[in-house]
Amino acid sequence: MKLHTIALGCQMSEADAEEMSAPLAARGFSRADTPDEADVILISTCTVRQHAEDRAISLIGSLRPWKAANPNRVLIVSGCAAERAGDSIRQKFPYVDLIVGAKSVERFPEIVRETLDARFDALKEQPESFAPEILPPTASPVSAYLTIMRGCNYSCSYCIVPSVRGRELYRPVEDILGEARTKTAAGAKEIMLLGQTVNSYESENAEGKVGFGDLLRLLDKTPGLERLRFMSPHPYYVDESMLSAMAKCRSVCEHLHLPLQSASERVLKLMRRNYTPGAYLEKARAARAAVPGIVISTDIIVGFPTETEEDFQETLDFLKDVRPAWAYCFKYSPRQGTQSASWPDDVSREVKEDRLKRLNQLMDELTSEALKAHVGKTAEVLCEEPGFGRTRGGFNAKWPGTARPGSLASLAVTGATKRTLLGELA
Ligand code: 5AD
Ligand code: SF4
Repeated sequence: MKLHTIALGCQMSEADAEEMSAPLAARGFSRADTPDEADVILISTCTVRQHAEDRAISLIGSLRPWKAANPNRVLIVSGCAAERAGDSIRQKFPYVDLIVGAKSVERFPEIVRETLDARFDALKEQPESFAPEILPPTASPVSAYLTIMRGCNYSCSYCIVPSVRGRELYRPVEDILGEARTKTAAGAKEIMLLGQTVNSYESENAEGKVGFGDLLRLLDKTPGLERLRFMSPHPYYVDESMLSAMAKCRSVCEHLHLPLQSASERVLKLMRRNYTPGAYLEKARAARAAVPGIVISTDIIVGFPTETEEDFQETLDFLKDVRPAWAYCFKYSPRQGTQSASWPDDVSREVKEDRLKRLNQLMDELTSEALKAHVGKTAEVLCEEPGFGRTRGGFNAKWPGTARPGSLASLAVTGATKRTLLGELA
């Protein structure tokens, strides 16, 4: 029996796909690299922007012939778009076998048992169809995802995440430490902690309260762990404890992806982001003071309702000041049920596109500046594939020749392309 997984959207979606593969792997499923070979396809969907949901819908539509070719095949649609639009997916694509919303990921093993047992057990009658190997994780095996929390307690006015993922739920500390040990024992050198506002993490252990900084300190002791990363922190929770843990823990990488969204105070208020541009700047400065050489990257939305040219210019000026090394930039997309979706989407498509273009131009310059600053220096790279790896700051790097995936090497940086460092292994 073979399983093919397709994860659309963010790292959380990829991590969910991996987590949902586990109960199928335990039943003896092995990995299919293409849909054609697969008995089961599991799609983990995203709905953060309309474009993401449209991709999921067209993918499900394109699998109609796959299912028609053999009705015993099983199609599972999971994740954020399944949570938001499950009913309409069921109506439009009656051949989908199972729809599992993002709020039910943790119940997936149970759902598989309840809903699909009869079918899978029938398939189990053909023992030769079972391959013994366990599914490899979907993420690079050198770098593993570890979900530490689910959901979001914020209510940013544009964001659909709180409604499809629910309130924040934190995993117990011991579970997280145990999963980290399992992942490094299986060969992971790097762990990427995931959470919608990853640094709002709070829990407790025998010694008392455990905040995000404490969790970094505990994870830093994981045997075999070379690098610890996390996505995405919220500026509000960047505090002294987190920054001192970043500064002191050997494994914690010098990279902070800190979503800004806009640098107009007025727009940020409408977005309900809970910080001002000044407060964001303070956090970025504190991070740079605590962790020398730290790389900052960010997310920006252009064309939020009522955003004027002046508001947008404030964002550009702010970015020129803070100089993040890269940014993921998005055109505002109204999402049904969010607060801002009830306001007029009054920035025209042309203006959104123009702003996105200008923003991307600026960010290309800043990325190029950040890459050039490495030239002539050496950087530690973790080799993820032959000839490819990443620096601790999170830059992609390429070099001729091979190094064993999972090995750390020193790269003498000789140049850079638009987004990648080039060099020779020292
Ligand atoms: N429209 C455009 N971009 C959005 N994001 C979240 N919701 C929307 C939306 N409705 C962006 C934010 C967030 C990233 C994951 O996606 O920048 O940080
Ligand atoms: Fe969405 Fe805001 Fe929560 Fe991020 S912090 S997931 S943008 S509501």
